[in-house]
Amino acid sequence: MFNKKMVTDLNVKGKKVLVRVDFNVPIKDGKVGDDTRIRAALPTIKYLLDNGAAVILCSHLGRPKGEPDPVYSLKPVADYLGSLIETKVKFAEDCIGEKAQSAADGLAPGQVLVLENTRFHAGEKKNDPEMARQLASLADLYVNDAFGSAHRAHASTAGVADYLPAAAGFLLEKEIKYLGNAIADPKRPFVAILGGAKVSDKIGVIENLLTKADQILIGGGMANTFFKAQGYDMADSLVEGDAIDTAKSLLEKAGPKLVLPVDVVIADAFDADAKNKVMDVGDVPAGWRILDIGPKTVENFSTIVKDSGTVVWNGPMGVFEMDKFAKGTFAIAKALADSDATGIVGGGDSASAINKSGLDEKITHISTGGGASLEMLEGKTLPGLAALADK
Ligand code: 3PG
Repeated sequence: MFNKKMVTDLNVKGKKVLVRVDFNVPIKDGKVGDDTRIRAALPTIKYLLDNGAAVILCSHLGRPKGEPDPVYSLKPVADYLGSLIETKVKFAEDCIGEKAQSAADGLAPGQVLVLENTRFHAGEKKNDPEMARQLASLADLYVNDAFGSAHRAHASTAGVADYLPAAAGFLLEKEIKYLGNAIADPKRPFVAILGGAKVSDKIGVIENLLTKADQILIGGGMANTFFKAQGYDMADSLVEGDAIDTAKSLLEKAGPKLVLPVDVVIADAFDADAKNKVMDVGDVPAGWRILDIGPKTVENFSTIVKDSGTVVWNGPMGVFEMDKFAKGTFAIAKALADSDATGIVGGGDSASAINKSGLDEKITHISTGGGASLEMLEGKTLPGLAALADK
């Protein structure tokens, strides 16, 4: 259950509120690409503005090396935010120090300031108390609304809460409620669909979900490692050599709970125009590779989804960026959209597949967090959440 102090529990009128958001969005040619994460932060920003606060937003963007790097500047995001909220958004060229302090000092209630990338300082990822203290000194209150970064124990996501009254924003609350409830108290049957390239990324998730889910459906590149563990020749398919033994023991442990594809789409090259065909699972011919689940698997997975009460999905079923190998992923998205199940889709690739399919409105919840949603599915405590005071 969500038991953290909320932004609505704070008296924000006339106060400066430092809000950690996850504005780690794709930037191309100086322009914001997918703006989902920015829009998702708007309810908290608007609430604070409507209630007389001055809003200071901080975030990381990308993975700069602990020093300023213009490629990762948040300036385009600040400009974009201004166009969304029709309020002039100020920008400070640093997140701590003199520039940040004077911008924060000059901020009046109803105004918004975006600080430059927190990862332009090495102290951010080290959760340096001095950096946390300097961030805190800009404001009177702290709100964490950065679900996508809540699995990071960094100065702006965790450390800063030691120095200011701290509460959760609406996005953080919504994400934790949907994902947390799905795992703790799912309407059954509870089905997990896991895909993506690597088994090694999802071992913790599979182990945790084996104790909670009724079935776990496996697709995507990670299925190949399970096939290899069953003794099939995977030819040129992506296989994670280091994870074959783990896959073997997961198969033994899980028994019929783990459901693998029965047929696959294979291609003679990793290319959008490659020759392709459907085959039952077995030895893959030399020179070919598996790039999607096949139609019998789609039917099987879709039936399971249709009969389920809760579905948690993380990771695409194939190389959905290429049209020829996107059918599996889109068919599962459609099955989920058409079902009555509570459907929760983890961030990253699966979320962008759902958005690309245009079915996003029909899914109960699409998470803004990639790594963060995976860590929740693993049953881990998120440091960004743990740092906040309980109600
Ligand atoms: C994400 O995109 O998953 C978050 O913004 C976290 O980014 P990170 O993996 O670079 O910490």
